[in-house]
Amino acid sequence: MDARDRLRLYLEQRRELGESEFVLDSLPLEEALRLIGHKGAPSAGTPTPAGAEATRPRSPRDEPATGGNWKDALKAIGAEETAPAAKTKKPAASARAAAPATSVAEPTPAEPTPAEPTPTEPTPTEPTPTVGSPAEPGTGIVVGASRRASMDGPLAALASLDDVARHIAACTACELYKSAKNSVPGEGNPQAGFICVGEAPGQTEDETGRPFVGRAGDLLTKILEAVQLKREDVFICNVLKHRPPGNRNPAPDEIKACSPYLLRQLELLQPRVILALGTFASQTLLQTALPIGKLRGQVHRFHGVPLIVTYHPAALLRNPAWKRPAWEDVQLARRIYDSAVQG
Ligand code: URA
Repeated sequence: MDARDRLRLYLEQRRELGESEFVLDSLPLEEALRLIGHKGAPSAGTPTPAGAEATRPRSPRDEPATGGNWKDALKAIGAEETAPAAKTKKPAASARAAAPATSVAEPTPAEPTPAEPTPTEPTPTEPTPTVGSPAEPGTGIVVGASRRASMDGPLAALASLDDVARHIAACTACELYKSAKNSVPGEGNPQAGFICVGEAPGQTEDETGRPFVGRAGDLLTKILEAVQLKREDVFICNVLKHRPPGNRNPAPDEIKACSPYLLRQLELLQPRVILALGTFASQTLLQTALPIGKLRGQVHRFHGVPLIVTYHPAALLRNPAWKRPAWEDVQLARRIYDSAVQG
């Protein structure tokens, strides 16, 4: 693939995600595509915020039917954007991706029961996460001061991810193991450095023992590919390792019982960046009841590790207006990862 093809793919991706300008120089995106000889471009339009996510704390695992890619997925549920592109002037790409949540019009997702603090976090020296100025990325919520001191927990003796997975498979700390077919510890590259944390297994995950392999998983795979990450290059796991019956929301006591596994996984993985997908992952890791709309757009710190919050893929399937902020979040995570790897 030559540079021209790569540029075309990049621009097409941006258009699919609702962009209307080629933001490096404010060239209209369609114009940029025309300049490189691309024809027949449909106009995706800039998404219009569609109001808050359904009033129920709907589980991201209630997945609507989707097709083979992000845009098809949205079409399949009749959720593709219909509003004409609103031509707005945007700041340069780098400034935008690092912009605070308030810079992008977005609804506030429904808030489930806030995650309770887990027994292993935070350390006694850091009882209360702090919230930084939303205007300054990098000063978001800080949980735990350092990697080592804070991330040791009751499962510290488990020396590998496989050991953790074996423990999870035998876990009876909450009731979920009774109704689950399989435990879903997580999977991916143990050296990944880029870690995605979701909520809990859904039906397909329960049947297969693998995370994010249903329709939301397909979308997550596409999202990762959009920032040149293959699914197998990252590590994907959830807050809960067994499926809540009927995809109901995780209960506070289940989160409390299961969190030590996630903490031990993160300690073993030594992430460069954590991408928290959805309300439960974000609120659990950051020990906050703030909604996604308030948490995203900042770089938080989880025991020293940069943590980016974004919408759950299943929520994106239901609400295409969140595609654009999600795209910015994932780009931000990718940039943090790149600079951590290079630095
Ligand atoms: N939703 C999640 O949060 N996790 C999965 O593994 C699948 C769907």
